[in-house]
Amino acid sequence: MEHLLEIIYLISSITFVIGLKMIGNPNTARNGNLIAAVGMVMAIAATLIFHEGEVAPIIYILIFGAIAVGTIAGWMTAKKVQMTQMPELVSLFNGMGGACAALIGLIEFHHNVGDPVAISTIVAGMVIGSVSFSGSMIAFMKLNGTMRKAIRLPKYNILNTIIMIGIVAFGVYIVMSGTHDETMVYLLFAVALAYGVLFVIPIGGADMPVVISLLNSFTGLAAAFGGFLYGNMVMLTGGILVGSAGTILTFAMCNAMNRPLKNVIFGAFGEGAAAGSGTQIEGSIKEVGPMDVAIMMNYASRVIVVPGYGLAVAQAQHVIHELEELLEGRGVSVKYAVHPVAGRMPGHMNVLLAESNVEYDKLVEMDDINPEFPTTDVVFVVGANDVVNPAAHNDPSSPIYGMPILDVENAKQVVVNKRSMKPGYAGIENELFFHDNTSMLFGDAKAAITKLVAEIKTL
Ligand code: TAP
Repeated sequence: MEHLLEIIYLISSITFVIGLKMIGNPNTARNGNLIAAVGMVMAIAATLIFHEGEVAPIIYILIFGAIAVGTIAGWMTAKKVQMTQMPELVSLFNGMGGACAALIGLIEFHHNVGDPVAISTIVAGMVIGSVSFSGSMIAFMKLNGTMRKAIRLPKYNILNTIIMIGIVAFGVYIVMSGTHDETMVYLLFAVALAYGVLFVIPIGGADMPVVISLLNSFTGLAAAFGGFLYGNMVMLTGGILVGSAGTILTFAMCNAMNRPLKNVIFGAFGEGAAAGSGTQIEGSIKEVGPMDVAIMMNYASRVIVVPGYGLAVAQAQHVIHELEELLEGRGVSVKYAVHPVAGRMPGHMNVLLAESNVEYDKLVEMDDINPEFPTTDVVFVVGANDVVNPAAHNDPSSPIYGMPILDVENAKQVVVNKRSMKPGYAGIENELFFHDNTSMLFGDAKAAITKLVAEIKTL
């Protein structure tokens, strides 16, 4: 029996690894998710069937009751959620994982007093899970608009560092003293919850994807501590996979934005930009109307669309697909250039364009598309700004200097659609808008592209 359980755990762990691998590609992501979910169901079912020792019937009622509540609530929420609300859903689910890990710690403490290894595992899992839970709840509120502004208490960085050191010291004390006093653990739990709140409230709303990913890795780590405590291999593997995937994603996002993680956490970004770093740009812009752009595109042989955050805000994904089909129908080759941090969450543009049935082959990643710009007739930048800002290459004083960008300036013609000359997320001006080969098509993306499509149809 025991071996059967271990074998099922091993199979489940393998499904997690395969699922995670498949999630990396939109064509296989759905099946990858399903495979990992089947593995998880197998692991839960096997634990319930093949566990050791007697379990009172009431425990089964509680377990199945909790599974039913969780399944129904999770299913209904996931069914209802809009694509744009995905980051907040991830945050909420992640918080639940953290809460589970924290509760395991609270429940298991008194069973393990006298065993310093177990107690240190319990304390570490509980603290990290609590921080992840309360931090994720704040991130959730920021993303759904309940909490609109970053709240920065006076000297918040120093305050947070002191609390963090205090938590570590308190945790070490609980382990070393071998105390039986459960109030100590509850106190540590409360302080860790407070720290999660204080850690996330100062961080700006647009940085939330990075923070969620970081908290995700915390939850994974907390779950892995639980797996270690119970000697449960599948929980340990699952936790390690979530922890490492979250960490890799966090650093991948920071690299793609050319921002050290400490700048995200300590809120340095945006402040510098608001204070006016970056060079002032001289020159004038060239404004065009939908008909001018229609002519440019209709007689082009290669067009590349660069989608950005504004495309998502305007919900222009369907009309941009219509434009693509119209142009392709007239013999124009159309591709999309996707920057890794275009939008506000990882894969934002891919998900958005997949929603309007844009073929996945048409979405080309930055490194592959950059060499194609010099031979492209028209680049159409829709609601993107920072990801096409040449200051990243040529202005060392710019906060985005060093960030890899889409080199759209190398194309023959560049048309930029946005509503005004206001900056994007980084809060800096964009010299691309002043280049000789750049034209500005002002207006909301959905309205502007709808007009553009109508004009092309008249040609
Ligand atoms: P941004 O640089 O933020 O620029 C978006 C542009 O869209 C703005 O300049 C805005 O100009 C325009 N816009 C807004 N609403 C619009 C509408 N309805 N119609 C047309 N245009 C509209 O976006 P990006 O180029 O996608 O760059 C993403 C930024 O977010 C990067 O700085 C990145 O580092 C940051 N970020 C990304 C992530 C991830 S993981 N994706 C995570 C955190 C931060 P107007 O106001 O003039 O219209």
